[in-house]
Amino acid sequence: MLVIAHLSDTHLDDDPESAARTTRMLDYVHGLAEPVDAILITGDIADNGAESEYRLAAKLFASPLPVLVCPGNHDVRGAYRRGLLGVADGGDGPINARHDVGGAVFLLCDSSIPGADEGRLEPATLDWLAGELATTTSATPVFIAFHHPPVELHHPFIDSIRLRDPEPLAALIATHPQVAAVLTGHAHTAAASTFAGRPLLVAPGVISTLRLRWEGPGPFADRGQPPGVAFHVWDAGRLTTHYRVVV
Ligand SMILES: [Fe+2]
Ligand SMILES: [Fe+2]
Repeated sequence: MLVIAHLSDTHLDDDPESAARTTRMLDYVHGLAEPVDAILITGDIADNGAESEYRLAAKLFASPLPVLVCPGNHDVRGAYRRGLLGVADGGDGPINARHDVGGAVFLLCDSSIPGADEGRLEPATLDWLAGELATTTSATPVFIAFHHPPVELHHPFIDSIRLRDPEPLAALIATHPQVAAVLTGHAHTAAASTFAGRPLLVAPGVISTLRLRWEGPGPFADRGQPPGVAFHVWDAGRLTTHYRVVV
């Protein structure tokens, strides 16, 4: 059995609240009676993309557990590489990473478009993804994670900045039955859907929660709601997800 704690959208900045909410969440995860196999954080690590925000992230994300991170639209590739990954000059290309955890493969893709809020998997990322998928067998569960949900979640703002051009990704998934799920962030709301016939699971936000249209007027990004986490459990070929908030 594999258990992944999936959180997203820490939006770290100079406001102590973002660090406090992130710390509250990670203290909860680290204090669990049984350790999870990995912590997954799907982007918008920093709020402004400043290198100091990534140095703070590196400090807060320090863990005895594997921590799997990808960028979001608020992130800036160069500062992310320097401050969080400790890479002095890694260029401005997409930040994609593979992690092998407990017999599963996590392929973390950079869905950001520098300077834009919507997302796209650029050709270099799709090529990388295809190459990594080709190294896995149908017996290996593969989780594809990135920031921008590739489908509408029925919120006008979030839908307007979702992943563009998801068709090549859907085609890749269609030919790889070992893809167990697609895991994203960006929406600041715990959501479950499907994409290319696989589960699509969206992590709740750490910094805030998206107010849904039918919840009525109120702050668009509600900080009155506590940070949340998704626990993804992979066992005997089935994915089960539990959502928790940390008050
Ligand atoms: Fe965000
Ligand atoms: Fe985002």
